[in-house]
Amino acid sequence: MQAPSLTKYWDEKRGRMSILLKNGEKPLRDISIEDEYPTTLEGMICFAKSGGIAPVASASGGKMVWKVASLAPGEVKELIYTALTREALDGLSPKRPTPADAALLSSMASRAPALYVGQAEVKGVEEPAREERLAEKEKAERRAVVIAVGAGKGGTGKTTFAINLGVALAEMGCDTVLMDADTSMGNLSTYVGLEPQSLKATLHEVLAGEAEPDKAVYRAFSDRLRLVPSGLSLEGFLKMDRSLLKDVIEHFSKNADFMVIDTPAGYNKELALSLAASDHLILVLNPDEGSMTDGLKVQEMAKILKVNVLGVVLNRYDMKNPQFSPSQVEEHFGTPVIAMLPEEPGVRRKDKVPAVLASPSSKMSMEVYRVAEMVSGVKAPAESPSFASRLMLALFRTANI
Ligand SMILES: Nc1ncnc2c1ncn2[C@@H]1O[C@H](COP(=O)(O)OP(=O)(O)OP(=O)(O)O)[C@@H](O)[C@H]1O
Ligand SMILES: [Mg+2]
Repeated sequence: MQAPSLTKYWDEKRGRMSILLKNGEKPLRDISIEDEYPTTLEGMICFAKSGGIAPVASASGGKMVWKVASLAPGEVKELIYTALTREALDGLSPKRPTPADAALLSSMASRAPALYVGQAEVKGVEEPAREERLAEKEKAERRAVVIAVGAGKGGTGKTTFAINLGVALAEMGCDTVLMDADTSMGNLSTYVGLEPQSLKATLHEVLAGEAEPDKAVYRAFSDRLRLVPSGLSLEGFLKMDRSLLKDVIEHFSKNADFMVIDTPAGYNKELALSLAASDHLILVLNPDEGSMTDGLKVQEMAKILKVNVLGVVLNRYDMKNPQFSPSQVEEHFGTPVIAMLPEEPGVRRKDKVPAVLASPSSKMSMEVYRVAEMVSGVKAPAESPSFASRLMLALFRTANI
């Protein structure tokens, strides 16, 4: 009979130790996994994940103990730990251990953890074959490229662009997650036609620890697009613990090609934590002074957090009396204007179908597809979706998964 197995490896890219616990054929209860770490780690703050985001480990005196209540046959849990400074935990610097701590931690990769079921140690924990270990590791490491859409100023078109970019990436065959990180005034769900009462769980409930992350995921427009809406209620806003946002983003970024995050206006913790979890930032700005000033602040924050600024999307560039030309914007930000979206009065349609599906050959859609191509290196579909498929999309737009 197949026994449970433990695979431990150092994830160099993310600076973390990862232990994959894979159950055999028997259901297990009351499991603990014990591992050691060097007590000399500077500023040792450990966190652990078990499939989701909830910390399940305790650490003291050089020993870490994970508790797992039960494991179904074949179930896999991922337990992660690292050493972080307080600043990194607050999301104000990248979540990586210092080089010295990383070297110490990685040197412990070959030290095998122990597995207990009840009080008894399970001896001879099966060491999976090398190929199996590599396959597990690869699966655990599939992580989306995370792109934050930000502006600083309100109403510049962040949500409109984020939705269209997410849909375009999905249309191009990329598994994409679109998250509304605007936890106070988020409206992405209404833009895509999700009925508020149909949302059993949202980002609010996940951040409040009331719902498993996967319960807050909805399909929209395509099999390849997963939406994570924010809640709309004040009650939901008040109960959530926003400091978990970065961990939640990391959770959702698993097993996808791209994650697009719609960030809130203003200089706030949600923006900082979204950026801290992102690889790239796209600024969506209007050619006016307010946009330029606020956009620069967001760009500064991104640079501090070592997020790559992909460029500026100049939205409504043909507005009456634009105060800035594209080249002035490029000079101001020191980053390219990667798309210019015109004023498009019908951008929000009654049937809620986004522009890239409803009018794929419009100037706006072509610009969005160009950004999606740039991001993914994949060509946009040559043919626009047929009227019939658009109608189907409009009718069967959203379903919880
Ligand atoms: N290119 C465009 N042409 C016409 N209207 C647009 C365009 N882009 C966005 N809009 C409209 O502008 C309004 C604000 O857009 P959106 O909600 O996307 O901005 P936002 O930056 O996400 O706002 P907030 O800061 O409130 O989250 C919406 O009514 C949207 O339909
Ligand atoms: Mg918005």
